Amino acid sequence: MNTPKILFVAVFIFINSAIKAQLQSRQFSIIPEPEFVKVMPGNFKLNSATIILYDDRNAQLKFISDQLSEKLKAYTGNKLPVKKLTAAGGKNQIVFKLSDKLPGLGVEGYTMNVNSGSIVITAKQPQGCFYGMQTLLQLLPLDPKEEASIPALQIQDQPRFSWRGSMLDVSRHFYTVEQVKQYIDFLAAYKLNTFHWHLTDNQGWRIEIKKYPLLTSIGAWRKRSLIGHFEEQPERFDATPHGGFYTQEEIKDIVAYAQRKYVTVVPEIDLPGHCTSALAGYPELGCGENPGPFEVKDKWGVFDDVYCAGKENTFKFLEDVFTEVATLFPGKVIHIGGDECRKTNWKSCTYCQARMKKEGLKDEHELQGYFVNRIAQVLKAKNKRIIGWDEILEGDQLRPDALVMSWRGTTGGVTAAKKHHDVVMTPTTYLYLDYYQGAPYLEPLTIDGFNTLERVYNYEPIPSALNAEEVKYIKGVQGNIWTEFIPDFNHLQYMAFPRLSALAEVAWSAPEKKNWEKFKLKMETEYNRYEAQGINYSKSAYQVSFEMVDGARTQKAQMVLKTQSYNPDIYYTLDGTEPSQNANKYVGPFNVNPNVKIKAATFKNGIKMGQTTDYEVTKQDR
Ligand code: ACM
Ligand code: ZN
Repeated sequence: MNTPKILFVAVFIFINSAIKAQLQSRQFSIIPEPEFVKVMPGNFKLNSATIILYDDRNAQLKFISDQLSEKLKAYTGNKLPVKKLTAAGGKNQIVFKLSDKLPGLGVEGYTMNVNSGSIVITAKQPQGCFYGMQTLLQLLPLDPKEEASIPALQIQDQPRFSWRGSMLDVSRHFYTVEQVKQYIDFLAAYKLNTFHWHLTDNQGWRIEIKKYPLLTSIGAWRKRSLIGHFEEQPERFDATPHGGFYTQEEIKDIVAYAQRKYVTVVPEIDLPGHCTSALAGYPELGCGENPGPFEVKDKWGVFDDVYCAGKENTFKFLEDVFTEVATLFPGKVIHIGGDECRKTNWKSCTYCQARMKKEGLKDEHELQGYFVNRIAQVLKAKNKRIIGWDEILEGDQLRPDALVMSWRGTTGGVTAAKKHHDVVMTPTTYLYLDYYQGAPYLEPLTIDGFNTLERVYNYEPIPSALNAEEVKYIKGVQGNIWTEFIPDFNHLQYMAFPRLSALAEVAWSAPEKKNWEKFKLKMETEYNRYEAQGINYSKSAYQVSFEMVDGARTQKAQMVLKTQSYNPDIYYTLDGTEPSQNANKYVGPFNVNPNVKIKAATFKNGIKMGQTTDYEVTKQDR
């Protein structure tokens, strides 16, 4: 072989391995980012002869093995056999094992060892094996027709927080049992472990309570729904009745389904406000002598309707409701709402005022505290703890075992942690996933806000105002989806994805493992995964945003184009035409003249991603 030929072959091999390395690194889009990953040479080739073995000291490992076998069917053509583990060391095996000897790992952690002969996932508890399975699924090629080879590696992994949640509001719009299960699957795939189910609100009561059938026969239905934003005038309505509820059998089914995915369902029965749907069936629970009539609300917002805090009947009703709720949900924590309770009716109600006098409560905030604590006591007797929105701190008498969900920023969380309440951080300004995620003029209508993928990703849940002792009370985070403006499951997916993936790293990954650049690269694979799974996701992270900066050398104003996607190919025009790949390619900051309209878009593999954005340069900009 002469020298040029050797060189040619060497260059060829080099390029080839570089491409392979890139391909392999692309497959490493594990979200959330694990604690420790070491890649090694070689790989495990999954095929129809692979067997799945489980440690039969715990029956749950068989369920996990069965779930994996089902998921791998697309790759192997058959359902892989699932068998009890007898002796380790065989070939072509995927093994789930339990072990107490995993130093440094907590109850949800796992280790995973992949070599050419086997994949071994070991954990202290079954949920660790389940999370190992989720990681394994992310290591597979997206296309099941490709060779299913999994790179040899070692992983050690565990979550940062124990409460990794997402809330879904099914009151403003109802979602079916199948859709709720699918939502739980979304959470589980990202190692989120808490499904906060907002079951009751002014616009619909969604849980069957046997003792009070009117809650659902009346409370689950509204005649019509507001169209457009609630601040728009005149108000517009559709002409379609909306409603639905879950029977107790359906709830048991969903809870059991979630349990197999290691997701705890936390039901929310909102009180003392947000209760018009209950009052619609049982108006006597409202304030005053002859309250009502009430109708299930057909528009969004906060209303004066509240449960009367003076009538004993209110507490009897709620005790009965929570008796049924407590038996349906095996989790230790029940959400009692507590948010946005207007005090107008309490102020003019003789029952409420008599209660305040009798209990020595100095104002209606203390009455709210009294209300919440009475419910907390009811639940304590059923061996449950309450969690509530941060207004449950009102009145300054909250039982010490109550958890606080900090939503109006982080102040409630800080106050609660300083008082040694366990806290879940879910500030509107970072973690409300019903807020805009891209330029509002291009997005479907939302209530408000602007929580982009990057903003969610960069949220740090531990408030700096807490000392080392107080920090321990921050149990985790949660992304919330209120559905006033989300009428169907397709739209719900659009709001959840891709931001759930950012939430997953906030909730699971150690701060030093988070990296926005790496995350954006992983998202390129993740978007393909959404495509492969038929998930309707938002491409808003590809939208181009505009920023005028002073040029470093010239000090003249220059235009910078940015996206929240990895290494984007941005094209722009200055003549008002729609940018294509024949337009100017953005390579760095450029000079612009006033009165020029810039239009920009991102392209990937020849396809425009997301919508075109534009920016009109003014004299002031320059
Ligand atoms: C809330 O967003 N009202 C808790
Ligand atoms: Zn009252």
